[in-house]
Amino acid sequence: LLRGHNFGSLTLYEYDGYVIAEPVLKQLHQITSFEFRETDVVLCSFPKTGTTWLQEIVYLIATDLNYEQAKCKNISDRFPYLEFPVPGINWLKLQKGDRFIKTHLPLHFLENAMKSNAKIVAILRNPKDVLVSFYYFARMNNIIDYKGDFNSFFDKFISDKVPYGPIWKHYSDFLLHHAREKAHSNRILIIYYEDLQTNFEREVDKICQFFDKPKLSDDEMRNLKKHCSFESMSLNPSVNYEHWDAIGVRKKGETLFMRKGIVGDWKAHFSDEQNKIFNKWMEQNFVKSIFERYVD
Ligand code: A3P
Repeated sequence: LLRGHNFGSLTLYEYDGYVIAEPVLKQLHQITSFEFRETDVVLCSFPKTGTTWLQEIVYLIATDLNYEQAKCKNISDRFPYLEFPVPGINWLKLQKGDRFIKTHLPLHFLENAMKSNAKIVAILRNPKDVLVSFYYFARMNNIIDYKGDFNSFFDKFISDKVPYGPIWKHYSDFLLHHAREKAHSNRILIIYYEDLQTNFEREVDKICQFFDKPKLSDDEMRNLKKHCSFESMSLNPSVNYEHWDAIGVRKKGETLFMRKGIVGDWKAHFSDEQNKIFNKWMEQNFVKSIFERYVD
């Protein structure tokens, strides 16, 4: 029997040790039996970890810097969200050739992607900043329509009552799979949001290598860095989700999708007490490397 709880206007269920929103749960069987192909690029992430940023970088590298396509087609059409109804899983099935697929599902439900030898890219971010970003997103997004304040969101987050949680399991699934795979293949790449901020070029080199692409020239690197900067992406309608305004997905008066794009915004939101609680929760739940990376 599944236990449901409310998260804004969504009902979340605990299923197989993870927290899944009702509409996703309803199509979970279809998702877990989805046939990934070796040529697929699958970007997996916990929400608000920098998914869109990495999608744009990966898309450009994997398409040999096809800025034309990147500018004229929305990211959600070029790089669809597997478990979202639009364009939908059936649409994805019909796509021939290279497919770019985004998902927030933990690897636990992506057995087929792992078996298929598709290229999997994951992104991780300081869970404290993820919490803050998720809070503003949940308030802004009318599909979620979260109305609580920051403190109540904080409590939900650390009780693993947010969609796709628990985040610590989501992260450790990637890290464990990565450790296992490393021995015999190179089908999963893990990128950290903070590394993209501080060492964009080095991370891009890694991504190029992962996709068997030549190293970018200095000019190409400069252009990519500029195109993918927070400032440029905030102004770029194909990645900034401003189309949500027209279809009523963004609640007026709340944040833009491209909110701040910085490291450490949690410091402006957590009380000292909350930070202590969060550090302890991280120590108890996250794998050691994540705890050590982000305890502060
Ligand atoms: P903030 O809310 O902290 O600003 P996702 O794409 O997984 O939903 O993640 C969204 C977060 O990534 C938001 O964080 C957003 O501002 C940030 N982001 C998006 N594009 C970025 C970029 N080019 N550079 C830095 N951060 C970016």
